[in-house]
Amino acid sequence: MDYKLEFDNLKSKALEEISKTDDLKALDELKNKYLAKKGEISLMMNHIREVEDKKAFGELYNLTRKEVESFLNEKIKKGEEKKLNEELVKERIDITLPGNNFERGVANPFFKTINEIEDIFVGMGYSIATGPEVDYDKYVFELLNIPHDHPARDMQDTLYIDNNLLLRSHTSSVQAHVMENAKGKPIKIICPGKTYRRDDDDMTHSHQFAQVEGLVIDKNINLGNLKATLELFAQKMFSKDTKVRFRSSFFPFTEPSVEVDISCFNCKGKGCSICKGSGWIEILGAGMVHPNVLKMSGYDPEVYSGFAFGIGIERVTMLKYGINDIRRFYQNDLRFIKEFKKVKED
Ligand code: DAH
Repeated sequence: MDYKLEFDNLKSKALEEISKTDDLKALDELKNKYLAKKGEISLMMNHIREVEDKKAFGELYNLTRKEVESFLNEKIKKGEEKKLNEELVKERIDITLPGNNFERGVANPFFKTINEIEDIFVGMGYSIATGPEVDYDKYVFELLNIPHDHPARDMQDTLYIDNNLLLRSHTSSVQAHVMENAKGKPIKIICPGKTYRRDDDDMTHSHQFAQVEGLVIDKNINLGNLKATLELFAQKMFSKDTKVRFRSSFFPFTEPSVEVDISCFNCKGKGCSICKGSGWIEILGAGMVHPNVLKMSGYDPEVYSGFAFGIGIERVTMLKYGINDIRRFYQNDLRFIKEFKKVKED
């Protein structure tokens, strides 16, 4: 056999077929066809038995193989590059397109006020207490000196679950819990939380609202301490020159009891629409803890005294930001919340 011619033909055939395609799959098939174990070039090795000059045959075999192989590899490399380039073009990302903007959120002013109130009182050494929103009559009324069938219960329209269990109508119930747990030791807490009353909802009333209760019990606590505390609170919450005025009032759990007014932050006392011409705005109820309340919770009123106060969170927030409808806080209307992006963070 003329193996030289045979190798030559095989090589030309292989190179021609390889040159005709760029397709990687087709190139792989050609690799199999010529170079695999049973490939056409590999099978040429069977003829070595028939030739005399085995060395020359071997050399030609290797040379043919090598040429076909390197041509094939080159084509595969080019094919891969071509494929990659095609993919890059297809998957090109236009980095000049505008991105997705994440809008920065803003806190509901209601929570802003709670945070502010907490900061102010924590700065004065108070701890934050919590208590149940569904509570027993004992804590919401009895331990606060409001016995069964006492007319003072009519001050609040309470939502009862059964005869003994109710939705707390004020955060004052937390006073009773804290005193029970403190077992006669001094107390200095505030408790912000939700409260519930059977109110028809309108611009200034809601069946759910929130208060911050404050309670201080220790030796030698007096009304002056209460006034100084509330004045500092009002000055930090509203403005430095805010004055505080006590008006005599009644709460069953305090004696004496006071309504607390602040000088109008808008007109500085001259009289405007916010303070309804009086120069003063009522913001909370307070007083000296009633001796009966101290006694019922295990404090000797001859040794200990204390003051307490209850602040309406929505009321303070409405005043501070000029909000005229309490329902805005709960309606989840983003347009309302977004207004407070404009309020400067201090
Ligand atoms: N609990 C009262 C209310 O809801 C507010 C209040 C008044 C709380 C006087 C107090 C207080 O702690 O001393 O109307």
